[in-house]
Amino acid sequence: MPLEQVLTSIPSGHPDEALARQVNFDRLPVHVAIIMDGNGRWAAQRHLPRVEGHRAGIDAVRDTVETAARLGIRVLTLYAFSIENWKRPAAEVSTLMLLLKRYLRSELNTLLSNDIRFRVIGRMEELGRDVQEELTTAIDRTAKNSGMLFNIALNYGGRAEIVDAARRAMESGLRPEDLDEERFAGFLYTAGQPDPDLLIRTSGEMRVSNYLLWQIAYAEIYVTETLWPDFRRTHLLEAVLAYQKRERRYGGIKAPAAIGAQ
Ligand code: IPE
Ligand code: IPE
Ligand code: MG
Repeated sequence: MPLEQVLTSIPSGHPDEALARQVNFDRLPVHVAIIMDGNGRWAAQRHLPRVEGHRAGIDAVRDTVETAARLGIRVLTLYAFSIENWKRPAAEVSTLMLLLKRYLRSELNTLLSNDIRFRVIGRMEELGRDVQEELTTAIDRTAKNSGMLFNIALNYGGRAEIVDAARRAMESGLRPEDLDEERFAGFLYTAGQPDPDLLIRTSGEMRVSNYLLWQIAYAEIYVTETLWPDFRRTHLLEAVLAYQKRERRYGGIKAPAAIGAQ
C-alpha cells in the first residue's frame, strides 16, 4: 500500500498528507530523473563557501531517495557529477568526491533495509580508486535487492554515453542493417531500464545539461525554483502531482476518451 507507506512517514496534520492523498498511485511515473542543481547558489545566499551547499544537498538526497521508494517509484536517477563538472576548481571536485564516499558509507544500511538497488551510470572507471571501491561495495551489496532501482549519474555525459554505446555496438559485431532504436538502447548505460517519465530540474534553469539525452526523448520536464539543498518530500510530491496533470502524446493525438470528455 504505497499511500500508507508514504503516510507513515508524514506527521499527522502536516500539509504533505493532503498532497500524498492526491497522488494517483495507478499513474505514477515509473522512472524519475533529477538534475540536482543550485547547491552553489544556496551557499552563496548564506555567504557560505560553495561546498557547504553540496554538504547540505546530501540531506535532500536522503529525503528524496526515501520518499521515492515509499511512493513506489521503480527507478530514480540522480545527476551527481557530469563529465563537464571536472572544469570546476580541484578543491570543489575533491570535496564532492569525499561527500559521495561519506554518503555511501553512511547510507548503505538504509539502502539495504529499504530493498533499494544501487547502480552507477557514467564513466566510473575514470573516478579515483577510493571512490570506485566505495561505489563497487554499494553496487555489489545491493545487487540482489528488488525494490527501487537508484541510479547515480557520476562522471556522466549524455553525448559520452551515446559514443560509448556506439563503440559497444560496433564491437559487438552487430550488422549495421540489424541496428534499430531498441537494440541501440541496449548498449546504453541504462540498458534494460525504462526511459524517464518525469525529469525534474531544481534551481530554475531551463536546460538539460547533457543529461540522459537519448532517454528523455518523451520525458515530461518539471522545473522548480527550489534550490537542491531545500528539496524535500513536499517538492517531490508536487512534481509527481504536476506530472499527473500532463497529457502525454508521443507524437500522436489526444486519447479518444479525452476528446469525448471535452
Ligand atoms: C549542483 O549544484 C551540484 C553539482 C553540479 C555537483 P551546483 O554546484 O551546480 O550549484 P549552482 O548551479 O552553482 O548554484
Ligand atoms: C548539471 O548541473 C550537472 C549536475 C547536476 C551534476 P550544472 O550546474 O553542472 O549545469 P550547468 O553548468 O548549469 O548547465
Ligand atoms: Mg549548477
